[in-house]
Amino acid sequence: MDTHAPDPAALAGRVREMIDSGRLNAAQAVLAALTRLAPADGGTVALAARLGIAAGRLDDALAALDPAIAADPADAGLRRLRADVRHRRGEHVAAAIDAAEAVALDPTDPSGKAILGVLMHELGRPLDAIACLAEALGAEPGNPAFVEALAAAQAAAGTLDRAAATLATGIARIPPAPALRNAAMLLEIRRRDFPAAVRLGEAARAAGAADACGFGLLGHALSSLARHDEASAAYEEALKLAPEDPYVRHLVATAGARPGADRAPSPYVRAVFDGYADRFESHLIALGYRIPGLVRAALVGTDAAGPLLDLGCGTGLVGIALADLPVGPLHGVDLSPRMLARAAAKSLYAALHEADLLTFLETPGPDYGVIIAADVLCYFGDLAPVFAAVAPRLRPGGRFLVSCETDPATPAAWALGPQGRYTHHPDHLRNAAAAAGLGVTTLRPETQRFQNDAPVPGLFGILTR
Ligand SMILES: C[S@@+](CC[C@H](N)C(=O)[O-])C[C@H]1O[C@@H](n2cnc3c(N)ncnc32)[C@H](O)[C@@H]1O
Repeated sequence: MDTHAPDPAALAGRVREMIDSGRLNAAQAVLAALTRLAPADGGTVALAARLGIAAGRLDDALAALDPAIAADPADAGLRRLRADVRHRRGEHVAAAIDAAEAVALDPTDPSGKAILGVLMHELGRPLDAIACLAEALGAEPGNPAFVEALAAAQAAAGTLDRAAATLATGIARIPPAPALRNAAMLLEIRRRDFPAAVRLGEAARAAGAADACGFGLLGHALSSLARHDEASAAYEEALKLAPEDPYVRHLVATAGARPGADRAPSPYVRAVFDGYADRFESHLIALGYRIPGLVRAALVGTDAAGPLLDLGCGTGLVGIALADLPVGPLHGVDLSPRMLARAAAKSLYAALHEADLLTFLETPGPDYGVIIAADVLCYFGDLAPVFAAVAPRLRPGGRFLVSCETDPATPAAWALGPQGRYTHHPDHLRNAAAAAGLGVTTLRPETQRFQNDAPVPGLFGILTR
């Protein structure tokens, strides 16, 4: 026997280790050697698929899995992997079919049930999700990902107390898991129980289980309780742990612990709104959000030749407000794919673009009869670059409808408030409009929405090219 011949099982083990430790190029080379050595079997295909997933090469992963599953449809492990790949590609229904097959083929595998549960949640079936995830967690009670997914499904089903209890049990069982502590804090912030969120954040800090995100959330909860000095200290901790993270940097600027940038960073906005998309509309309606109605009133009975562009269109509330008017086509641009998905579902926009609005405006495209900025200028401090980018995209005579928040207590041109949003002085809007060659047809005080039962002051304006 040739004792120097490489052992396929040992090589496969090395590939697995390399994938787990992120040495993906090395894993690719060893996997190629393994494929030359032994005929590809389910195990090799699974490794190729795992490598494709880890490297973000989902097409490669599918190309390995599809023929292998066609040859052996009863391989539960390969089905589960393909469910994972399809899930990452956003093909939720196809992924759920694979995951359900995987569970039917191997009912003892908790990870198949977990992925099916996550997919049920994303397909809007939280009760089915809870059933799958509870079984997965029952089989593997120490798996933090299962705890987090079950709590998320319970929250989606409206049972926030159960979600909090699931997370509390998980934290007691797996004390070092920062993700569970962060999920628990987020849940309390979502229910506006800021003292509970602070208690959880302090407990995480005491247990040495707070990461940058945890300190950021603690800062958010403290600033919501107007404990601004303590919030600044928490944000400073977050910044020490993740100095380059744009999300954390903006939170820190928000708390006044760092000189403010002149706009919210795109990754921050995307992260906030991707996380907020599910409840954005019900929340805004509960707050008596008024801007889409003001946009509608400004366009009723006027000659609004299209196309119209909705900057920071979010879930499409402006689209709804304009739906029965003889205007259009309506185009939208937003940074958050999850907000855009909700706008797309309304079928009111002829085109939707995922982009930063400044980049979008500066890229050649059609001229617009109307451009709308409803509750989006609050993510910019200095408005001059936005107005300068809007003006050349308006037809002569075209209108720019804007809303912004104001802070009567400050004479500053713009200021960053505790919620990470900028307020603007009316003079700053006038100056930015004049610099961009836009005339101010209307600029009047308007309540934007109601927060803690108090009106949020702001402006509504019509600027004309
Ligand atoms: C408060 S929501 C308002 C959504 C919508 N305009 C409405 O009135 O319901 C703000 C939206 O602007 C988007 N946004 C913020 N800054 C942006 C930017 N620089 N480029 C594109 N979209 C942005 C966010 O992703 C979010 O969807």
